[in-house]
Amino acid sequence: MQLDDVIPWGRTLQEYRAMFSLSKADLSLSILGCGDGPASFNAEMTELGHSVVSIDPIYHFSAEQIEQRVRATYETVVSQVRQNSDRYVWQNFLNADQLGQARLGAMETFLRDYETGKAAGRYLNQALPSLTFDDQQFELCLCSHLLFLYSEQRSLQFHIASIHELLRVATEVRIFPLIKLNGQPSPYVEPVINSLPDQWFSIQIKTVAYEFQKGGNQMLQISRRAIAE
Ligand SMILES: C[S@@+](CC[C@H](N)C(=O)[O-])C[C@H]1O[C@@H](n2cnc3c(N)ncnc32)[C@H](O)[C@@H]1O
Repeated sequence: MQLDDVIPWGRTLQEYRAMFSLSKADLSLSILGCGDGPASFNAEMTELGHSVVSIDPIYHFSAEQIEQRVRATYETVVSQVRQNSDRYVWQNFLNADQLGQARLGAMETFLRDYETGKAAGRYLNQALPSLTFDDQQFELCLCSHLLFLYSEQRSLQFHIASIHELLRVATEVRIFPLIKLNGQPSPYVEPVINSLPDQWFSIQIKTVAYEFQKGGNQMLQISRRAIAE
């Protein structure tokens, strides 16, 4: 993987809680964060005594390389948001600059935790659609701003294989948002749902209390059904 290919921006625990409607009980589950990048979710959860393993191909790189890449993309991302500001809901952030500062703050929290977390096996260099974990190793998997968002860049086949893999390693999977980068609904949500047998999975689309991209306030929640004895 080339670090130049990705825009590694990351969100906070507070944002993860809102995007995925995480209850206090959810926070105590064993969690896999898929594509967490430089989000501060893992660092903040660990500080609170919770259990999170994050995977992302950028964890191949050093703290310095990740920080350089985030800072190199900063102006491009902030100016794109500024130019398209009517595509966003300005409720939690006043403007593009404040958003940028919040993202840098999350990255700094992540970077302070990165080397310790890597040594503890909390930041693993792995990538969808194929992971090395055991079947049902995690109780909950969270995947934000990767699947569905990059529907123009990743195929339907990649989405289906990735989501089946996440359901292999976790009992429940939540994915946010269900729209593309341009704010249009992802065409892959329906075919992904149709690829999951009803008798094995309970599937819901839920509206959540987080909306920054206009229309991006829904998550897909898929749980493995308990098999009757
Ligand atoms: C926009 S960031 C989102 C970070 C975090 N989930 C959040 O919402 O704050 C997308 C992340 O997905 C990661 N990514 C890209 N391809 C991936 C793959 N095949 N498997 C896992 N992560 C991937 C990127 O490296 C990047 O860090």
